[in-house]
Amino acid sequence: MSHRRHLFYGAGLALLSTAPALAQEAAAPVAPTSAEASLRLMWVMLGVLAVVLLLFIVLLVGLLAFLKPVLRKLYDQPAVHNSWSGRVLGLLVGDARLMQGEVRDELLDHDYDGIHEFDNDLPPWWKYGFAFTTVFAVCYLTYYHVLKTGQLQGAEYATEMQQAALLVATTSDDPNQLTTYTALTAPAELSSGKGLFTTNCAPCHGASAEGKVGPNLTDEYWLHGGEVNHIYRTIKFGVNGKGMVAWKGKLSGKQILQVSSYILSLQGSKPANAKPPQGEKEAPAKTLAVR
Ligand code: HEC
Repeated sequence: MSHRRHLFYGAGLALLSTAPALAQEAAAPVAPTSAEASLRLMWVMLGVLAVVLLLFIVLLVGLLAFLKPVLRKLYDQPAVHNSWSGRVLGLLVGDARLMQGEVRDELLDHDYDGIHEFDNDLPPWWKYGFAFTTVFAVCYLTYYHVLKTGQLQGAEYATEMQQAALLVATTSDDPNQLTTYTALTAPAELSSGKGLFTTNCAPCHGASAEGKVGPNLTDEYWLHGGEVNHIYRTIKFGVNGKGMVAWKGKLSGKQILQVSSYILSLQGSKPANAKPPQGEKEAPAKTLAVR
């Protein structure tokens, strides 16, 4: 019996001794990070705002119901009745003339096999809607089809696929496994590429990529391939023992693609002092036509 009791006490002690540790463990994750706290505060504030707004609306509706007879009297005065602000007032007292237009309910004298027509105005909401959609259509047409500033669905899709390809960076570090990028063409990407080129590459390849220590990058001759994924590979892994540095680790995958695309955008730019061609001639690299 006593043997058992000892066991029991022992287990109890063990439990007790772990209790503070458990409490500590439980306490640690409860303390909210500052981001969580501010998020919670935001929700509380939004909740309060919603309640205040609801109260305000209820009060306003109550007030209107209370004042309706007075407003109606005001509205019925001819001077008010026919003014613009009077029509807005009309909405509050139950006359929807502002939205519906004048409803005269006079029958036209046509008779279409026994069907008669009213001679009512087009509802103003309809007329404003018509005017708005007309203006909108002109702007839309100009933006997308005349000036071609906006991207249509196809082009937008292509751009998004390009960006997605950047996110799914090929983590492979095998130089033999080519990437499957298409050259970027968006002006913002190319100008980032230009910035990267000027700071990192111009010392060896020249400010206009005309070639110095490194080869001319604006002609059709390539030592290591002129397709965007070949250029990408050359930049990422460098050319061992030939003075071309490997840029992986120094530039991100996205930056390498930007600078590769920038180089391709210089094809045929014929800069001054161009270095003579090196390597093999390749047909101009295909770039995806995105506008
Ligand atoms: C230290 C000098 C140096 C710097 C800096 C340098 N390169 Fe090079 N680059 C070279 C040399 C040299 C070669 C030629 C390698 C060879 O002979 O195979 C080369 C080759 C290349 C090629 C291959 C050209 C072909 O004909 O296939 C590309 C593309 C290229 N560099 C892009 C870049 C880019 C982009 C940068 C900047 C991020 C850069 N280089 C920075 C020296 C440099």
